[in-house]
Amino acid sequence: MATDRRPEFFKGTQLKVGIIGCGYVGLPLALRFAEAGHKVTGFDTDPEKVKMLNAGKSYIEHISQNKIQQFVNSRHFGATTDFTRLKEVDAILICVPTPLNDYREPDLSYVEDTAKSISPNLQRGQLVVLESTTYPGTTEELVLPILEQSGLRCPIVSGPENENVPVDFFLAFSPEREDPGNKQYGLAQIPKVVGGVNPPSGRAAQAIYAQVVSRVVPVSSTRAAEMAKLLENIFRCVNIALVNELKLLCLRMGVDVWEVIEAASSKPFGFMPFYPGPGLGGHCIPVDPFYLSWKAREYDFSTRFIELAGEVNTAMPYHVVDSIGAALNDHKKSLKGSGLLILGVAYKKDVDDLRESPTLKIMEILQKRGAEFDYNDPYFPRIPKLRHYDFEGMESVPVNADMLGKYDAVIIATDHSSYDYAAIVDAAKLVVDTRNATRRVVRHRHKIVPC
Ligand SMILES: NC(=O)c1ccc[n+]([C@@H]2O[C@H](COP(=O)([O-])OP(=O)(O)OC[C@H]3O[C@@H](n4cnc5c(N)ncnc54)[C@H](O)[C@@H]3O)[C@@H](O)[C@H]2O)c1
Repeated sequence: MATDRRPEFFKGTQLKVGIIGCGYVGLPLALRFAEAGHKVTGFDTDPEKVKMLNAGKSYIEHISQNKIQQFVNSRHFGATTDFTRLKEVDAILICVPTPLNDYREPDLSYVEDTAKSISPNLQRGQLVVLESTTYPGTTEELVLPILEQSGLRCPIVSGPENENVPVDFFLAFSPEREDPGNKQYGLAQIPKVVGGVNPPSGRAAQAIYAQVVSRVVPVSSTRAAEMAKLLENIFRCVNIALVNELKLLCLRMGVDVWEVIEAASSKPFGFMPFYPGPGLGGHCIPVDPFYLSWKAREYDFSTRFIELAGEVNTAMPYHVVDSIGAALNDHKKSLKGSGLLILGVAYKKDVDDLRESPTLKIMEILQKRGAEFDYNDPYFPRIPKLRHYDFEGMESVPVNADMLGKYDAVIIATDHSSYDYAAIVDAAKLVVDTRNATRRVVRHRHKIVPC
C-alpha cells in the first residue's frame, strides 16, 4: 500500500476509493469511479444494501442494475459493512445523510459517526473528502478534530506560503450536485467545487475528482465550498417561494402564472424560470437552508430570506387542501367525508424518492380534515415506514376510467410522465392540478381546477 501519497498521487490510475454511504449520492459516485477504472469499495451501515450491491442489484430506480453487475463482475466495485477495510483505500469520500432533527436543527450524527468510524482506521497519506451538504465549518470543526484523534495531523492553513505545508493526511469538502432523474446532466458532466483544509489537501481532492467530472472548480477553503452548496440550494428555495407567492396572487387575480413564467422566460438574460408547486420536497431544498440559518445564529445573524421562503413554501400544502375544499364546495360537497384520489406521492416527477414529499403533508392535512383518500404512484406500490408520517402499508390503487370516476375529485400532486392526463380529465368528475400537468388537455377543461 502507498504510504507516501502526495497530492499528485491522486492523479494516478487504479486508485482504491472508499465511498461511505451508498445512497442516492454515494452509489452513482462509486459507479463513476469504477467506470474510470478505479477499484471502489462502498461502505454502508445497512447490511441489506451491501448484500444487494454485492449481488449486482440496484435499489434506486434510475441506477442501472447492469452497471452494478458489470463492475461487481470486473471487481471494480464491491460493498461492505466492515469499516476496518477503510485502511485499504487511498481516498475516502463521505456521502452520508445530513437531515434535520425534530426541532428542525442540523442532525450531524451520521457525519460524526462516520468520522468516528474512519479515525481508528485512518492511514498516513489518505485523502478524506466530505460530500454531505452541511453548514460552513463542519469539515474543520467537526470532522477534522475526530480524524486527528488518530494522532495524525492535517493543519488548517491557506495561502501561497502554505502550498507545501506538511500534512499526515488530506482533508477536503466537495459538495455533491446530483439531480436524480435528470437525463441531461449526469455526474460526469457536472462541475465539482472543491476546497481543502490546506493547499495540499485541495490539490489532492482536485486531482481525484478531475478524473471523473468534466471540470473541477477549486475554492480556497472547505468553508467556501460548504457555503457554495448552500447558496445553490437557498437560491432555489427562495426563488421557488417567490413564484409560489406570485401564484397565489395570480390565482386571486385570474392570471395564469404558468403563462406568465413562460412569457418572462423569453428574456434571454437576467431571468431564470422557477415553477410553483404543492410545496417543497426532496432531501435538499426543504432541509439545507436551515443548516445555514442555524449556524448564522452563532454569529447573531438572522437569515431573513431563508425564514421567509420557508414560511411561504411550508404554507403551500395547506393552500392545496384549501383549494380542494373550495373546488368541492363549488360542487356542493364538503371536504369532510369526500372521496379523493391523489396522483403521485414522490416528491417530484419520475423519481422513486419520497423524502419530504409535500404530498405526504397534503395527505396528513386531508386526514385531519376528515377527507377519505386513496393514492396512485407507479414508483410506490406501497408506502414504506416514514419518520414523520403514519401511512405505512397504504397501497397504490390502479388508475383506470372506472376507478377515476368513483372519486369526488382527483388531485394531481406529482406530474409523473407516465400518466395520461387527457384520459384522467375525461374520466374524473373534478381534477385539482397542482403542477399544470393538464396544460395540453383540450377536452373537459371545465373540470380542471388550477391550484
Ligand atoms: N439526494 C440528492 O439528490 C442529493 C443531492 C446533493 C447532495 N445531497 C447530499 O448528499 C448527502 C447524502 O444524501 P443521499 O441522498 O445520498 O442520502 P441516502 O439516504 O440516499 O444515502 C445515505 C446512505 O448512507 C448510509 N449511512 C447512514 N449512516 C451511515 C454511516 N454512519 N456509515 C455508513 N453509511 C451510512 C445509509 O444507509 C444510506 O445508504 C446528504 O448530505 C445530502 O444532503 C443529496
